[in-house]
Amino acid sequence: MSNSGFDQWATAHRARVEAALTRWTPAAELTSGRLLEAMRYSALGGGKRLRALLAYASAEAIGASAELADHAAVAVEMIHTYSLIHDDMPCMDNDDLRRGKPTSHVVFGDATAMLAGDALQPLAFAVLLGAPATATGVVAATHELAEASGAFGMAGGQAIDLANVGKPMTLATLEEMHAMKTGAMFEAAIVIPALLAEEDESTLTALATYAQKIGMTFQVVDDVLDATADSATLGKTAGKDAANDKPTFVSLMGIEAARQYAQRLTDEAIHALPVHLNTQRLTDLARLMATRNA
Ligand code: IPE
Ligand code: IPE
Ligand code: MG
Ligand code: MG
Ligand code: MG
Repeated sequence: MSNSGFDQWATAHRARVEAALTRWTPAAELTSGRLLEAMRYSALGGGKRLRALLAYASAEAIGASAELADHAAVAVEMIHTYSLIHDDMPCMDNDDLRRGKPTSHVVFGDATAMLAGDALQPLAFAVLLGAPATATGVVAATHELAEASGAFGMAGGQAIDLANVGKPMTLATLEEMHAMKTGAMFEAAIVIPALLAEEDESTLTALATYAQKIGMTFQVVDDVLDATADSATLGKTAGKDAANDKPTFVSLMGIEAARQYAQRLTDEAIHALPVHLNTQRLTDLARLMATRNA
């Protein structure tokens, strides 16, 4: 099946977000050089950049500029990076490998790792506040980023995750946890360009539905890969979910049913996209969520 230039598009846009992140993450200098170095260590040169690609694809779908999308892509990747730095710390998942490199706390120590996460978080908001959009658009987008990363989004989902290690969980509770922990930031990546561009309510709702489906697909596949792939391929420790007794889609459904579920969610995500938008790249990315092997 031809993917109509998707691979080239993805490569070009990964390079684009990398350049924007490099521009907007301050260089290591002055007295807090070690903190700035730690921020750049984690934010640059790694990761699949799926959330960034979704922000660019969303902007393309609605006919917004790539310059506008840069701000959404960088803001979401910065929050995501901060969440990974903290997630890997000894007080959370205690992981020493991330994006194929030693984790931040292993290299810089716990205090600097914690501060690097702390500092990337407000930097994300500063980047979003600089987006080339109307004041109304910027306020709505900033509100979305705050909701998605806070107690009712990523941070809240992380708290549920930690509180449930070794405990049985229903599929409904697992999905609720993932919608917060992972899904909210995917949704932010997709919806923020549309909020910046002041898209209408029905477009926003359709994009949010698409986002919720692919966010869940992403997590189902993350769980399958944790059980089936190796650490070198993933760039992070494989097999950790079972070792840590975490409830996952694999532990609740089994690998085959989880794979089928990911496929069904992908079809539903594509189906949710409005026909009046330019949805080629969003469609490609939905397929990538289900078929990725790293
Ligand atoms: C990892 O996300 C954390 C989860 C939400 C499971 P990614 O797999 O997107 O991480 P990077 O950005 O590619 O490293
Ligand atoms: C991390 O979830 C999600 C966030 C950082 C919000 P996991 O702990 O499952 O992610 P990995 O498997 O370490 O990437
Ligand atoms: Mg975790
Ligand atoms: Mg983890
Ligand atoms: Mg995982």
